[in-house]
Amino acid sequence: MLSDKELVDLAFQMLERSYVPYSKFPVGAALVCSDGTVFTGCNVENAAYGSTICAERTALVKAVSEGRRDDLERIAVVGNSADYCWPCGACRQMLYEFNPNLTVLVARADRQFVSFPLHELLPHGFGPKALTQAE
Ligand code: THU
Repeated sequence: MLSDKELVDLAFQMLERSYVPYSKFPVGAALVCSDGTVFTGCNVENAAYGSTICAERTALVKAVSEGRRDDLERIAVVGNSADYCWPCGACRQMLYEFNPNLTVLVARADRQFVSFPLHELLPHGFGPKALTQAE
């Protein structure tokens, strides 16, 4: 099984693929399924700033578009930053859709990382079940 450290290292490899001419803040991600399949991602910015996609969402849409959505296990999110590279709200929300129990590994430049279940990073999250409970 891929260790947490190995997943974090794969995410760090993605920093060089980041397209960040505006923020100059590269972010890498690596998402692993329960059978060990890995989907990586980086942030891809755009001259229309709001069209930027984050590293985590790049990895997620790669997984889902390849038919993987029911067994997402862990994701590593890394940056060259002194503080941990916390996933933004939009990424937490998109990941929550597929697995509120996803393990999220958050790393900083020195490759130290911390680990949380996604539902702790997005408490009382809005998910698919909420839509079935309308009166
Ligand atoms: N960014 C990510 O890739 N993931 C996050 O969760 C936070 C922010 C990117 C978006 C943008 O390219 C840069 O970091 C600065 O906001």
